[in-house]
Amino acid sequence: MTEQVIVEQNAPHPSIQIIRLNRPEKKNAITRAMYRKITDALVAANADATIKATAILGTEGCFSAGNDLGDFLAAAMGGAMPREIVEFLYAMVRSEKPIVSGVDGLAIGIGTTMHMHCDLTIASARSHFRTPFVDLALVPEAASSLLAPRIMGHQRAFALLALGEGFSGEEARDAGLVWKVSAPDAVEATTLATAAKLAAKPPEALKIARNLIRGDREEIIARIDDEARHFFERLHSTEARAAFEAFMRR
Ligand code: COA
Repeated sequence: MTEQVIVEQNAPHPSIQIIRLNRPEKKNAITRAMYRKITDALVAANADATIKATAILGTEGCFSAGNDLGDFLAAAMGGAMPREIVEFLYAMVRSEKPIVSGVDGLAIGIGTTMHMHCDLTIASARSHFRTPFVDLALVPEAASSLLAPRIMGHQRAFALLALGEGFSGEEARDAGLVWKVSAPDAVEATTLATAAKLAAKPPEALKIARNLIRGDREEIIARIDDEARHFFERLHSTEARAAFEAFMRR
């Protein structure tokens, strides 16, 4: 089986940990096992002095279609709570290395909200950021209900998180969710070059600057927990189960 998350650290950027979502046949939808692997990589990076920055990438034309809806359906039918999602979010918040993400194409659900925990995001114009939480009878996750209004203001955050409107790469940049728009075939190189620039900075100064800029981690963790409580409660609702079943039946 091909690896659905590839974690690499090699030439020409030996100080960058690259985490690549690699399940293109399912639009890089993220399963519990994939979350575990990304979380382990982020936690390991904190303790690894050879890693100066992390880059998160998808595949050509697709960053991620978000949480695997099959996993959600299993949880909605009475399965265990997918704790892996929350553990992954904690790892993003507690990451001590700068994180740069590169998006080309689809970025749905957590495929959008995870960038709110990245320091810089590069996206192609053809990217499509969307969070259909409410349409799936769910609520925002990843502390997006706290971070999105800060990043883009109430109106755009509401359009993204509650109305479920899609944002192109350029709209996401104008809203502050994305730093730079780049040609699709340059997203990866620009993302890695940006991570390499960060990797070359004095590490202690960068770490302190990043901590100051990112603000209170505990406030973000508290919002992740708060949202997760509502999210998992909603996951077991009749309306959410109907939405997942409708997707699986298509
Ligand atoms: N979970 C599980 N499987 C998913 C998935 C998801 N979130 N998103 C896509 N897939 C699967 C599809 O079931 C399909 O599998 P199949 O080939 O075995 O039937 C495959 O990926 C390709 O997806 P498809 O829907 O055919 O591609 P598309 O280009 O027509 O549409 C999307 C892409 C992303 C618009 C559509 O797949 C979609 O709406 N996905 C759900 C997104 C979502 O709601 N995510 C959760 C947010 S909280």
